[in-house]
Amino acid sequence: MKKPLRKITWGSLIIGFALGVFLVPATITFNHFTSTEDFCGNSCHAMSWVINDPSYINSSHRKNGSGVVATCKDCHLPNDLLRETWAHIRDGSRDLIASLSNDFSEKQTWEARRQALTYEVRKKMIADNSESCSSCHQLAFLENTKERVGRQHELANRNNVKCIQCHFNLVHSPVKPSVFDREDLKLLPNYERVSVAPANQQ
Ligand code: HEC
Ligand code: HEC
Ligand code: HEC
Repeated sequence: MKKPLRKITWGSLIIGFALGVFLVPATITFNHFTSTEDFCGNSCHAMSWVINDPSYINSSHRKNGSGVVATCKDCHLPNDLLRETWAHIRDGSRDLIASLSNDFSEKQTWEARRQALTYEVRKKMIADNSESCSSCHQLAFLENTKERVGRQHELANRNNVKCIQCHFNLVHSPVKPSVFDREDLKLLPNYERVSVAPANQQ
């Protein structure tokens, strides 16, 4: 009884190892390929509206004094291998179905769909504690900000208000929250920030 069992265990270990050696890099390559701006922005009509949108192109996340650029995946995908892969598969297949069943080469069709998508993204960024923002921004280290801003961030931290509840309409052209969205997501009206217009750029 003992021997075959040991054989199976060794066998599965070796197969598991071989699969791992192959699958982990394959998964990383898959994630990497499907995260590039070229893939996210140009593989379907809907996203080409997003990537060519002047609000986005001129936002401080693309143009700033330090040359640090936030790409789609930096804000929209989790940072660890398993969750990122799952997000690619789940969101990718949903986006594919939506693209096949709508004609997003018509800007109006895309604009009509945005309100619902925006609500979903905002909701997700509240639920996950706006974790993608914190992968770049650490509020405790923000220097030279106005006293008022420091106070807002301290209050936000104390009251568990998420980045996106104040900083919505961050990079894409603004989507005005409906009354329902505003209440459901507890968006703070005082800080509504209209996406940076090209004229406001340094
Ligand atoms: C890849 C890194 C990165 C990620 C992810 C990121 N940011 Fe930024 N953020 C930056 C950089 C770089 C700037 C520009 C700083 C400068 O002006 O020099 C910036 C600027 C800002 C500003 C000030 C200018 C403005 O446009 O209002 C706010 C507010 C901000 N980010 C909030 C956020 C929020 C909220 C998120 C999450 C949805 C986020 N950031 C995600 C890097 C990032
Ligand atoms: C309670 C509302 C509130 C929350 C929540 C909040 N902020 Fe802010 N934040 C502000 C306000 C107000 C400003 C100033 C905006 C302006 O001057 O246009 C600001 C400014 C900033 C700036 C620019 C710094 C500067 O000196 O102008 C960055 C970067 C930023 N916030 C990132 C974040 C991130 C990341 C989070 C989440 C971890 C976050 N904020 C959460 C209200 C908030
Ligand atoms: C700096 C962070 C950031 C980057 C970079 C970013 N997004 Fe977004 N995105 C957001 C936020 C925040 C929302 C929620 C809407 C809002 O701004 O209030 C959003 C919303 C969306 C939506 C929902 C529809 C809409 O317009 O609101 C889509 C689709 C989207 N993003 C795709 C993309 C693609 C594709 C890229 C790259 C070409 C990208 N995003 C880059 C932060 C970002």
